[in-house]
Amino acid sequence: MPSLATPRPLLRAIKKQVGKVKVSLRSQGEALEELFQLFTSERQHLKRFSYMNDPRLRLAYIRYHLPLNTVRSICVLKDLLKRYPAIAETEWVTDMGAGPGSSTIASLLTLPADRTRRYLLTDQSRGALRVAREIFEECAPAEKDGVKTSITTLQQKLPMLPRFQGPTLVWMSMVVNEFDHAEHRGIDIKRFFNKLAEKLPPGSTVIIIEPGLRAPGRRLLALHDSLLESQRWEILAPCTHQKTCPLLSEPKRPWCHFHFRWQPGDIVKQIAVPLGLTAGKGSMSYLAMQPAKEGGLLGNRDPELARVIGDPMDVRHTDAGIYLCQDGKRRVFRNPPKETTRGALLERGRQNRDARLV
Ligand SMILES: C[S@@+](CC[C@H](N)C(=O)[O-])C[C@H]1O[C@@H](n2cnc3c(N)ncnc32)[C@H](O)[C@@H]1O
Repeated sequence: MPSLATPRPLLRAIKKQVGKVKVSLRSQGEALEELFQLFTSERQHLKRFSYMNDPRLRLAYIRYHLPLNTVRSICVLKDLLKRYPAIAETEWVTDMGAGPGSSTIASLLTLPADRTRRYLLTDQSRGALRVAREIFEECAPAEKDGVKTSITTLQQKLPMLPRFQGPTLVWMSMVVNEFDHAEHRGIDIKRFFNKLAEKLPPGSTVIIIEPGLRAPGRRLLALHDSLLESQRWEILAPCTHQKTCPLLSEPKRPWCHFHFRWQPGDIVKQIAVPLGLTAGKGSMSYLAMQPAKEGGLLGNRDPELARVIGDPMDVRHTDAGIYLCQDGKRRVFRNPPKETTRGALLERGRQNRDARLV
């Protein structure tokens, strides 16, 4: 399981934001609890109410969800870059439903600082974008040897799309579940992604991150299948195939999700620990893809490459087993190589003992 700490520049920026608002720690904790309710049992209020425009709720978000989602995005991006390093060549990064800029900060601190990068953040909340800009300016490197890092913010409501000026890394982190739900009339998620595929220049990458919970996780699997069906997308990760998702038809309704360890930092712990948030672990579901256009990357088609989608478990007649997703099928793999953990990529050989982690 990957282990990540909240990056220090982000912790400093969060501390600065916290210092600007005169709200007791207790009241911030209450606001964080309200946010959790809003994201779970009171989701029906999300459509009418922009919590990012409420300074109390926004501060609670910045103090807990911003660092957590930044670490989620770093996890996904690092894993993706190992297999598809060309993604790091992009000049444009577009963070849609950016909030305070979690995925923007993840990109800023993960992509090599060897070229000019232009960040575009869109959100329906002006307040979130203002804070995102302040945090970005705290974390961005100063211009050096002609290499610049710039930010543009755009108040815009999805499904509207910004203009893409070149191959772009597009983030949609923890936002699809907010604008894609039954009560949001007029938003057709399939049409939205068809339009996105059409508008994105070849070589652009889209990363969707969703909570590691069953309901949004399974909705993401269904979205995956509809994207494949549209023939407009190449799937880069976590799937290692271009076939329908084997988990959607599984009777016990599992979903594809991954874990990481998280060292949140003191400023986060101060608000999280009194609420019992002490696990130091996070989870997520995600999907990374490119529009299927000439000049873009191709997703994997090697049937031997598999993604580990479960934790080691006891299997009858062998020491251990683990679930793999391989070539569009879910399989139990017996006696996996040592160090095999959920999320790993495994190149299978002719026999199990030939398998190796990649
Ligand atoms: C849970 S936050 C995620 C923020 C950030 N991407 C992250 O990962 O921390 C969802 C964000 O999506 C924005 N949002 C929700 N529905 C939207 C819509 N229809 N158009 C634009 N932004 C939207 C909200 O204002 C909020 O900032």
